Amino acid sequence: MEGRKVTGWAARDSSGVLSPYSYHLRKIGSEDVLFKVLYCGVDHTDLHQIRNEIHSTTYPLVPGHEVVGKVVEVGSEVKKFGVGDIVGVGCIVGSCGECICCKTNKEQYCAKMVFTYNAIYSDGSFTQGGFSSAMVVHQNYVVNIPDKLSPEQAAPLLCAGVTAYSPLKQFINSEKPIKAGILGLGGVGHLGVIIAKAMGHHVTVISSSNKKREEALTDLGADCFLVSSNSNEMEKSRNSLDYILDTVPVTHQLQDCLNLLGVEGKIFVVGAAPEPLQFIASDLILAKKTISGSFIGSIQETQEILDFWVEKDLKTMIEVVKMDYVNKAFERMEKNDVRYRFVLDVAGSNLE
Ligand SMILES: NC(=O)c1ccc[n+]([C@@H]2O[C@H](COP(=O)([O-])OP(=O)(O)OC[C@H]3O[C@@H](n4cnc5c(N)ncnc54)[C@H](OP(=O)(O)O)[C@@H]3O)[C@@H](O)[C@H]2O)c1
Ligand SMILES: [Zn+2]
Ligand SMILES: [Zn+2]
Repeated sequence: MEGRKVTGWAARDSSGVLSPYSYHLRKIGSEDVLFKVLYCGVDHTDLHQIRNEIHSTTYPLVPGHEVVGKVVEVGSEVKKFGVGDIVGVGCIVGSCGECICCKTNKEQYCAKMVFTYNAIYSDGSFTQGGFSSAMVVHQNYVVNIPDKLSPEQAAPLLCAGVTAYSPLKQFINSEKPIKAGILGLGGVGHLGVIIAKAMGHHVTVISSSNKKREEALTDLGADCFLVSSNSNEMEKSRNSLDYILDTVPVTHQLQDCLNLLGVEGKIFVVGAAPEPLQFIASDLILAKKTISGSFIGSIQETQEILDFWVEKDLKTMIEVVKMDYVNKAFERMEKNDVRYRFVLDVAGSNLE
C-alpha cells in the first residue's frame, strides 16, 4: 500500500545523472519509523550503483545509504524511537530475522538481507535511499544518533565508518602493538585511519599518489605514508604490517599489499573493485596470510561506532553540499577530489 509522497533525486540510466523524482513511500507498518531526512553521505558504492557497475541496477534509482533523519511518526509497536528523535540508517533495511546470521548479530550477511535501495522489500515494494525528503524503515534497522554527535558528522559513520570499524575491532584490546595499513585514503579510508589511531595502532597509509601525504600525516595523524607505485618505499616496508584495510574501488595490485604483510597478516578487502584482483598463492601460503572480505557491520556495530565516536571525541572530515551539487559531487569523487566525504544537506535543500 502506498504511503506518503516524497521527492528524491534519482538516476534514470547508466549515465548516472541524478535529477528530481517523486514517488511514494510504503505505508507505515506497526514496527516502522517514518523520518524526515536531514543529511546523507555520498559513498563510492552509490557511484558504482548509479552507473550500473555492479550490473544490478533498476532505474529510476534514488541512492543514499548513510542517512540521518528526524523521526516524524512511528508505528504502534515501535518502542525504541519516538517523534523528534535523531536516527540513522545505513546499508540495509531488512533481513529474515530467523537465520543463524540474524540470530548472531550478523544480519548484514543474511541471505534475505534487503539493501536500503535498489532492492525488493518483503512487501514487494522497491527500496529507495536517502537522497530523498523522507524514508520509512523498520525499527530493527534504525540506530540512535547520540546527542553529542551532530547529524552531518554522524552520516558517514553509518556505512563508511562501520565498514572500517567491523574488521578492525578484533584488534581493539590487542596486547601486542598493532601495525595497520590503510590502502586508499577516501571516505572509508580516512575513517579507517581515524579508527585505527583511536585504537592505538601504528598506522601506515598506502596511497596512489603523493597528493595526500601532508594531510594524512598532519590532519589525520597517520604515522607513515607510502605511495603504492613507489617500489623503493614499498620494498622498505615489506613484511611489516599486521593488517591492511583495502578500500580501493578499482582494480589494483593486491600482490603489492600482500608483500607488505608480515606472517599471519590479514588483508580486509572492502573496496568493491568491479574487476578481478590477483595474487600469488605461494606468497599467501608461506606466511599464512589471509585475504578476507567484510561487508559494512551489524546494526549493533553501527551503534557501537557512533558511541565510539562520541567516547573518543573523533571528527569525521566532510564537505557538506546541497542536493543540486550532487552530480558535481560524484564527478569530483570519481576524480579522487574530495576530503574525504561529501555529505548532502538534504533538509536544507528543500526537496518538497
Ligand atoms: N565492503 C563494504 O561494506 C563497503 C562499504 C562502503 C564502501 N565500500 C566500497 O569501498 C570502496 C571505497 O569507497 P569510498 O566511498 O571510500 O570511496 P572514495 O571516497 O572514492 O575513496 C576511494 C579511494 O581509493 C583510492 N583510489 C585509488 N585509485 C583510485 C581510482 N582510480 N579512482 C578512485 N579512487 C582511487 C583513492 O585514495 P588515494 O588517493 O589514497 O589513492 C580514493 O580516495 C568502494 O568500492 C565502495 O563501493 C564497501
Ligand atoms: Zn536472516
Ligand atoms: Zn556504503
